[in-house]
Amino acid sequence: MSHICDTEAWQLLKQHAANANNQHLRDLFANDPERFNTFSLKTQNILLDFSKNLITTEILTNLLTLAKEAGVEEKRERMFHGAKINTTENRAVLHTALRNRTNTPVFVDNENVMDAVNHELNRMKEFVNSVRKGRRRGYSGKRITDVVNIGIGGSDLGPRMVTQALKPYADDRINVHFVSNVDGVEIANVLRPLNPERVLFVVASKTFTTSETMTNAQTARNWLMSSAFDERAVAKHFVAVSSNTDAVKAFGISPDNTFQMWDWVGGRFSLWSVIGLPIALYLGFKQFEELLTGAHEMDIHFRDEPLEKNMPTLLALMGIWNSTFLGHTTQAILPYDWPLARFSAYLQQAEMESNGKSINKDGEPVAYTTVPVIWGALGIDGQHAFYQYLHQSNTIVPADFIGSVESSTPVRGHHENLMANFFAQTEALMNGIDPDEVRSNLSINNLSESEVERLTPHKVHSGNRPTNTILLQRLDPRTLGALIALYEHKIFVQGVIWEICSFDQWGVELGKTLAKQILPELIDKDTNELHDSSTFNLIEYFKSKRGT
Ligand code: F6P
Repeated sequence: MSHICDTEAWQLLKQHAANANNQHLRDLFANDPERFNTFSLKTQNILLDFSKNLITTEILTNLLTLAKEAGVEEKRERMFHGAKINTTENRAVLHTALRNRTNTPVFVDNENVMDAVNHELNRMKEFVNSVRKGRRRGYSGKRITDVVNIGIGGSDLGPRMVTQALKPYADDRINVHFVSNVDGVEIANVLRPLNPERVLFVVASKTFTTSETMTNAQTARNWLMSSAFDERAVAKHFVAVSSNTDAVKAFGISPDNTFQMWDWVGGRFSLWSVIGLPIALYLGFKQFEELLTGAHEMDIHFRDEPLEKNMPTLLALMGIWNSTFLGHTTQAILPYDWPLARFSAYLQQAEMESNGKSINKDGEPVAYTTVPVIWGALGIDGQHAFYQYLHQSNTIVPADFIGSVESSTPVRGHHENLMANFFAQTEALMNGIDPDEVRSNLSINNLSESEVERLTPHKVHSGNRPTNTILLQRLDPRTLGALIALYEHKIFVQGVIWEICSFDQWGVELGKTLAKQILPELIDKDTNELHDSSTFNLIEYFKSKRGT
């Protein structure tokens, strides 16, 4: 069977990569005044500058050929049309249908899913309005003021990231809180200041079997009961978001209070579905629709633009060039927009759970590196923490710098300061400072020649460190929707080229299964099933020190 790494484009790229060390970005810029224009593009309110990657037009042409040969165009079509491209679970992948604002029909098993999508969106809208306007109240007749989302992974990261990112667009009707961790410290801290009469719990779990979420939901219910003393209060204070209606019913939440999602929505792509309920409750339904619209506009761009003018494809190709061909094993996400503080954590799941795979679609091991470690933090804070490593360590970390032309909360004098750092960092990472520049800088300070020579190597910055710059007009709901969709489609394109199944997550199942097995062993004094000696003794130590 022929694979992507057997293609001519792949082989040519390997040769280019072998020569990459002989090139410096500084020279590529010096030799081509058009470099920015050649390697940048704009769509909606987003500018992507990928010119500070170690690429040439020839390399980009080969990367685009690779994307074509991998079938990105045809597979993109199949995804949008509801084909079952999640082949290990036999499911369609239709987060794009959730924000299909033009309502073009999308069929799965001969059924137009848009009917169900619109039905659920309408229910959501009605519910959001009734809570925000005070028509739906708590058991004692008081208004709901606080929403607590109980969920984990894709049922937490999206709404948590988006509500923080769009805080400047929220009014003060509803506060949102998130509980994901089964460590009781989190739920205890969240609930402590809240009044049970005013809290709405959203139990968000596609499967409704995830043990962390179920444990937290039970604790929340007990907390409510310790104040309401009446089971009927559950209907007023709990709603569920799930595709497992039977399990929701068994928990005691009625179908009226259950919002539906479907198996063709992957957890990490689900914020556009009813998983986005906390977003809509916090911001109002109109703003939620704006988020969907922004994502839909990016979908149209991704679906219709040729690969060479296609932002998600180009971003994906830069990633593949840096990781698979140049061998860089991590990728930093560095927002210079405080509201995007959780964006790297969000992308960590989206990218690493999707493409953290090493088996191809035919079940064979792949012969190359797939997704790098995705990590990051707010850029400004990072400058005073880990940027030393980015500039001068012997590990190259490709980085995406994300900033905005306008602040979503302007405060005089701040934004220019922030953005001066934003532009300075990518320039510094690209140019570096060579020994001659360091020497001439040092000699201004009247240092002796030997002192200059002693200090020079410590102050040299090699530069040549690749970055993408993503410049938004302003971080508003529509632009955020487009930004998230940009990365979602980047993930798709990369999965297609790496020939892996981006939409399953078997790797998270093993640990879950073992935890289920170990839980009764921690409670029951005498059982400690057959484990390796390390695990056995750790469990025994834990039990002996607790006295159970
Ligand atoms: O971490 C694995 C995972 O299956 C994610 O893909 C998912 O987002 C998360 O668990 C939560 O699952 P659920 O929504 O079913 O509780």
